[in-house]
Amino acid sequence: MRRPFIAGNWKMHGSRAQNAELIEGLLLGLPGQVPVDIAVCPPNVYLWEVGRLLKDSIVKLGAQSVCAESIGAFTGEASAAMLKDVGCTYVIVGHSERRTIYREDDALVARKFLAAQAQGLIPILCVGETLEEREKGQTTQVVSRQLKAVLDVAAPGALQQAVLAYEPVWAIGTGKNATPEQAQDVHAHIRAEVAARDANIAARLRVLYGGSVKAGNAKEIFAMPDVDGGLIGGASLKADEFLKICAAGQ
Ligand code: G3H
Repeated sequence: MRRPFIAGNWKMHGSRAQNAELIEGLLLGLPGQVPVDIAVCPPNVYLWEVGRLLKDSIVKLGAQSVCAESIGAFTGEASAAMLKDVGCTYVIVGHSERRTIYREDDALVARKFLAAQAQGLIPILCVGETLEEREKGQTTQVVSRQLKAVLDVAAPGALQQAVLAYEPVWAIGTGKNATPEQAQDVHAHIRAEVAARDANIAARLRVLYGGSVKAGNAKEIFAMPDVDGGLIGGASLKADEFLKICAAGQ
């Protein structure tokens, strides 16, 4: 019922030459049709060119963040309209690196979510706990708080045009992924929270797992009933590895 979705978050990696090689590898390795949605999220400066390289392929374009404001004196920012203009379908909001390094709080993440949807972009809303929060037994509480901040301001039904990503902070870039059972527990909690507001939307909502997903562990994580694919960081930078992860999502 839920079509799997695999998104590569390149973070601040790449160059024009590396991007061209990566996209060429991906397109060569992908058949015309696959039973999974695929996207790549390059740094903003490369969005336009990567979009051209993807042409009309099945791989869609996403951005890694968006400004909550629509236009004006916001040095260094890119608006949702701009991301749409250069060909983005998706945008990540609330990634833990934005929340921690750039101090984006729940309220700002919610505004970014709204700004993205207002321009027809599909937000990939990230939630997840730190190691300290997990060890204190606060995982579901943290995830619920992050989710509620968005659901309380979004229109009813907003999650019909959104994707969620559970990314435990302690698993990001550490090589220490959540176990499939740990992921499933939190994914089921997220789906239940959404179901409490709208069961139909919850049943259709795609909840991705992110955090040290590799070709070697993707299949067992994606096999969990409430895991609908992955948000992939480091392993999305190599075409072979990312293609294997995409295959694991089928
Ligand atoms: O957005 C992607 C996540 O932060 C996961 O990154 O696969 O390098 O652990 P990672």
